[in-house]
Amino acid sequence: MKHYLHINNVENLQKTVEEAIELKKNELEFSELGKGKTICLLFFNNSLRTRLSTQKAAQNLGLNVVVMNFGSEGWQLEYEDGVVMNQDKAEHIKEAAKVIAQYCDIVAIRAFASLTDKEKDRAEIVLESFKKLAGIPVVNMESATGHPMQALADAITMEEYKVAEKPKVVLSWAPHPRALPHAVANSFVEMMQLQNADFVITHPEGYELDEEITKNSKIEYNQKKAFENADFVYVKNWSSFKNYGKVDNTDENWMINGDKMAVTNSAKFMHCLPVRRNVVVADEVIDSENSVVIEQANNRTYSAQIVLKRILEDM
Ligand code: CP
Repeated sequence: MKHYLHINNVENLQKTVEEAIELKKNELEFSELGKGKTICLLFFNNSLRTRLSTQKAAQNLGLNVVVMNFGSEGWQLEYEDGVVMNQDKAEHIKEAAKVIAQYCDIVAIRAFASLTDKEKDRAEIVLESFKKLAGIPVVNMESATGHPMQALADAITMEEYKVAEKPKVVLSWAPHPRALPHAVANSFVEMMQLQNADFVITHPEGYELDEEITKNSKIEYNQKKAFENADFVYVKNWSSFKNYGKVDNTDENWMINGDKMAVTNSAKFMHCLPVRRNVVVADEVIDSENSVVIEQANNRTYSAQIVLKRILEDM
């Protein structure tokens, strides 16, 4: 694997998930693989899980790790060509990417969507610029349109907890007071399209995700109907895609509660975290024995580790 920007960069998802589960049993088995090499983790946005789990995964493989909160500590970057840089942006990506590449062998980047300019967000300017200019492997730690490291952890978690060969999996929108990106939901959809599952997306009308991503995935606007006989309920808020980045629905009836979970097939509750309790999900659900959110977060280490292992093996 050269870069990990998208779940499709994984050649065989099922095999990769199985390998990650094996890796989890002996996480230091390949602790010599990254010896003498360095990974830079660049955060343009906040993080808890991604930052700690990716660092842990890299260290498990023997990599040196350099972490930078680029958003608060780095110079503001200019990405456009030919700009007269007499405003707030002090450094051009052309220099920054090449300089960073001299200090490390792999660069991992978190750079969220602006949620103000749909076309720029869809162009993935930050990741694509690093890919074009840095000349080293680039890893997506959540970009404008995707969070494939989370999706891989989600696939690992579902493999560990599934009770049916072809589970019913529901991706449900839930309310949130702030405008959140589409990245987690997008990558979850793309990952589910590679799975043998009965997959349903449920959200209020008007909250459709990018059709280029959902393709022909089933959409059910009646949340409770969607939940019937589900084996997994994966919950995430996202802002409107049509009315880009706007919050035009905070209907608390979409919050996940015990009544809704009662119509499932004793479904496992999943969320990538962080989550707002009693806004997105009621305490009774996230605190129930069917909630697998802590193990889901644990699996972030092994999704990062299998990705970094593949990249190191192909260097
Ligand atoms: N799920 C996830 O990416 O968590 P953080 O934003 O805390 O890294």
